[in-house]
Order: sequence, then C-alpha cells, then structure tokens
Amino acid sequence: MGKAIEVTDLKKVFHTRKKKLFRTFEKKEFKAVDGVSFGIYEGEIFGLLGPNGAGKTTTIKMITGLLRPTSGYVRVMGIDVDKKPMDALSKIGTVLAGDRSIYWKLTGRENLEYFAALYGCSRSEAKNRAAKILDRLGLNEKADELVEKYSTGMKQKIALGKALIPNAPVVLLDEPTLGLDPQSALNLRQIILDIKNEGRTVLLTTHYMEEADFLCDRIAIVDGGKIIALDTPSNLKKSINDIKLINIEVDNAPYDMLNEIKGLSSIQKVISRYDEEKRDYILSIHHTDSNELMQKIIDCISVSGCRILNINVKEPSLEDVFIHLTGKSLKEKVENDETA
Ligand SMILES: Nc1ncnc2c1ncn2[C@@H]1O[C@H](COP(=O)(O)OP(=O)(O)O)[C@@H](O)[C@H]1O
Ligand SMILES: [Mg+2]
Repeated sequence: MGKAIEVTDLKKVFHTRKKKLFRTFEKKEFKAVDGVSFGIYEGEIFGLLGPNGAGKTTTIKMITGLLRPTSGYVRVMGIDVDKKPMDALSKIGTVLAGDRSIYWKLTGRENLEYFAALYGCSRSEAKNRAAKILDRLGLNEKADELVEKYSTGMKQKIALGKALIPNAPVVLLDEPTLGLDPQSALNLRQIILDIKNEGRTVLLTTHYMEEADFLCDRIAIVDGGKIIALDTPSNLKKSINDIKLINIEVDNAPYDMLNEIKGLSSIQKVISRYDEEKRDYILSIHHTDSNELMQKIIDCISVSGCRILNINVKEPSLEDVFIHLTGKSLKEKVENDETA
C-alpha cells in the first residue's frame, strides 16, 4: 500500500522573547515538535493523540505547508511540501481547530460555494459540490440559514464541509469534535468513518482517547513534541496487558501512605490525582499481580486513617497506556506524578 503522508524527523523550534526588566528580553528556544517521523498508508485513519501543547496542531500546520519546519521533511501523496507547496496543497483538505475562516454572516451553503469557487470550481460545479456535502453532513434543513445561528455542532460540521470541498485524497482534521456534546461528536465521528470508506486518507488530532480508539486504524501518542508510542489501538492496549490496574477513590492521599503503597512488591506505578468534581483522590495503581496485593493496599490505606470510597479493577484503556508511558493523565491535572 502506498503512503499518503510521510513525515521524516520533523522539527519545529519557536523562538520566543520573554520580557525582563528595563526593556531587555530573554531569548528562549522552544521545541514544539522534536524529531517526529511517521508514515500514513492510503485509506487509513491515523490519529495524533496527546494532551494540550503536545505539538499536534504545529505538526498539522507543517504538513499543510502553513508553517515551515525548522528541519525534516513532509511528503503528501509523494509530493515534497517544501519544494512544491501548491501541488501538495491540492491533495489536502484541512480543518484546523477553532477554524475562524467560516463566515458567520453567510449561510452554510454560501460558505461552501465560496470555498469551492476559491478552489477554482465553476459556478455550477461549486453549487453541485456544496449541495452534496450539505446533504451528507445532514445540514440540508439549515443550509440557507446564517452560520451565526448555527449550534456549535453545526458550525463544526460546516468547517468539516470546507475540508471536503476540494475533493482531496487526504483530509487533515485538527480536533474535529472539540467542545461538542456527545451526540454531535458521535455524528461527526460517523461522517469521518464515511470519509475513510470513500477511500480517502484521514489524519486527525485529538486529546479524546475514546475518539482515537473508536476511529483510528493506528495512533501515534505524542507528548512534549515527541512520539512516545505508535501502533494500532488494540496493540497499544496489549502492550500494557501484563500490567493490571486498580483504581481506588480515597478521601485523602497523604505522602506517607502513597510511599507505603509504592513500597509493596509487584507495584509498578502509583499515580494520585485530585478529582475536583468528587472532591476526593483517585489512586491509579499499576501492578504486575499478586493475589494478596489488594488486601495489602487496603491495609496501607486504613493504617493511615484514610477512607476508601470506591475500588475498581480495570482493563487497560488508551488513557492507561498514556498514564503508563508518561506518568500523567491526558485529561486531568496531575497532583502527584511520582513513579514507584
Ligand atoms: N507561534 C508560536 N510561537 C511560540 N510557541 C508556539 C507557537 N505555536 C505553538 N507554540 C507552542 O508549541 C507547543 C505546541 O503547540 P500545539 O502544536 O498547538 O499543541 P497541541 O495542538 O498539541 O495542543 C505549545 O507549547 C505552544 O504554546
Ligand atoms: Mg492543537
């Protein structure tokens, strides 16, 4: 199978200036993308999964040619993006997170027809493409209303529609379901699967692991500008299959107690985080099994005077893979990410 996208040792260094006293500046270098390589096969849905600030959007912008890499190269459908940016761009439809290019004072239909015209379509072809896309997005009823009256979900759909207008073989979607309610997110995910079923290649970024798990054929987990794992969702989960997981909710998580638990045999990692909503602590305990372990953990907790509110033993999810690799959670603020 051919490669739709090839990214080789891609780096982006941002130079920032931090203001100091008396109009002096401290120059800083920041590696947003730090030597990323991957290949995406034609017809695949490939995901970049990582927390905010991992470098996902920066990577997508370099693939579209919107940002120039500090080093490394990108090929789209065999075309070098740096050498032939316009040729490469003709192979790509993109929607960036928080895309502001949709015109709120135009209707959904007018937006899509306008973008089709920008891609050089004739008037009748523009009308035709816009109508087809509105139909598949389920926006027929609202097609002639102003976008400013659309719900967030409908605005996201129109942004996705814009990415479909060029009829390009490669579609890049940056956080396509960000901020959507579950029903709209599900709806949009179904449309993304349809895009794949047409034989197109999709690269999407997300920090929702269920989304990556549901949609992607393969996933690169990114953190701090680097790929820390790359495989199919099931292989990623299998990679920590010999690791077992216990989640325990406790009313408090003092340092001494955590250390006691970390000191038990067959413990791999203990991660404690504060749950703002429940106002309690969740201990994620990664271990390699021992039948008496659960009792020993319970003993450590009760000796320290803390109360156990809930215990569950889990199958590893992609979130757990991420926690295992990085010691921190994708979605929650980590209180104490020390490892045992
Ligand atoms: N133009 C820029 N100048 C300086 N730093 C930037 C710029 N764009 C992004 N960054 C930084 O690079 C890092 C990666 O950003 P981004 O690619 O947007 O992450 P993600 O999409 O994974 O959330 C962040 O720490 C961000 O603050
Ligand atoms: Mg981003």
